[in-house]
Amino acid sequence: MAPVLILMTFLLPRGAGAEEINGGHEVKPHSRPFMAFIPFVNDDGKRHRCGGFLVKDNFVLTAAHCRGSSMRVILGAHNISIREETQQIIPVAKAIPHPDYNLKDDSSDIMLLKLERKAKRTRAVRPLRLPMSNFHVKPGDVCYVAGWGMLGPKGKLPDTLQAVELTVQRDQECLSRFTGRYNKATAICVGDPKIKRASFTGDSGGPLVCKNRAAGIVSLTYTDGSAPGTFTRVSSFLSWIKLMIKHS
Ligand SMILES: *[C@@H]1O[C@H](CO)[C@@H](O)[C@H](O)[C@H]1NC(C)=O
Repeated sequence: MAPVLILMTFLLPRGAGAEEINGGHEVKPHSRPFMAFIPFVNDDGKRHRCGGFLVKDNFVLTAAHCRGSSMRVILGAHNISIREETQQIIPVAKAIPHPDYNLKDDSSDIMLLKLERKAKRTRAVRPLRLPMSNFHVKPGDVCYVAGWGMLGPKGKLPDTLQAVELTVQRDQECLSRFTGRYNKATAICVGDPKIKRASFTGDSGGPLVCKNRAAGIVSLTYTDGSAPGTFTRVSSFLSWIKLMIKHS
């Protein structure tokens, strides 16, 4: 089984049965006001979706492998099947993938989206704080991932925002699992392999939130949704993020 970028991947349980990927839950509407829903069209002409999160009034952070055309950002959403009054739909003016993003090993899987206009801050729309450069997550830390990509055992996509708690793992777990595709300087290994339910619920690009900060970005997992998976380590990209925000 090959590791894949979880671009709207339907995560199916390994084998039949007992262990369902079902660790997530619907969140209280608008309790994660930084969340962005990002529909786009891929090179293959198909429609895809990613998650992301607001970091400045006119910038959203997501994964580099979420790049496509006709990108839009929907802020303030809970149920993405309806046009909620709280929603702000803003086209992307410029997608800025990290220059080191590498398709071969999925390193530096991070991208900034400059919005065509500033989002209006409301109770449903508010940026998430970036970590400090000395912010470190360590094995055992419990964080959460939020997204609309959360998948039940039948591969069903929810229309409301879901979240799941995940535990940070030792780098060794991912070094052996994602041979050659895990760099501990720029990635975080997340998800306890012993807890079968705790799989990825977020679409690619969604945030890993630790202590109310954006510690990681959902990047790579196995097609069967088994843990752990890799997340882009946001604290390793702070100077790039700040530079891009300043000069774009
Ligand atoms: C979301 O909205 C759709 C369309 O109105 C509705 O059918 C669905 O039940 C809603 N989802 C939830 C979980 O409330």
